[in-house]
Amino acid sequence: MSEATNNYQLNDVMFTREQIEGRAVEIGRRITDDYAAEEVVFVGVLRGAFMWLSEVVKSVDIETRLDFMVVSSYGDATKSSGVVRIDKDISENVEGMHVILVEDIVDTGTTLHYLKTYLEGKGPASVRICALLDKPSMREHRVDIDYLGFTVGDVFLVGYGLDVGQRYRNLPYLTSVKVEA
Ligand code: PRP
Repeated sequence: MSEATNNYQLNDVMFTREQIEGRAVEIGRRITDDYAAEEVVFVGVLRGAFMWLSEVVKSVDIETRLDFMVVSSYGDATKSSGVVRIDKDISENVEGMHVILVEDIVDTGTTLHYLKTYLEGKGPASVRICALLDKPSMREHRVDIDYLGFTVGDVFLVGYGLDVGQRYRNLPYLTSVKVEA
């Protein structure tokens, strides 16, 4: 069945724009306190992280640089092997720098487990993780999330950067979705 034949039924809003923005402000302030006078390189993992990253950095009051990675998975092979293909690497030299990897969701943990190890290989001072959502019931690879928006159950969410079939990333809130044939 192709994506084109699917209908998506959006359910009630799970996290409102105000809830998400409020959490982003709290996290931005925590990052500001944690890094004090240090400079931080924020690395957003596209595409899903674009909206959460932009919200968090607005509340960060330290020197920052922004960079992005684009990654893709190999489907089932990725989940079993923990291999992630990097389609676009970071452009900044992060050697000796503090890095915060920003994601929309940690699901199996495959992506962030791989990317954190990969970035640590570039010799940064530190690598921490900031994620909008944690879905611990799906975890296959250990990921320590330093700055977390919300923990969720085994529900498929869209909005605020998250998609189903590339749709609904622009919604300014998070809602569960049901896929109907
Ligand atoms: C999603 C999400 C994370 C990854 C999390 O990306 O943005 O990168 O899956 O899943 P994991 O913990 O099981 O690795 P997706 O492949 O949907 O791409 P997108 O960011 O373009 O939406």
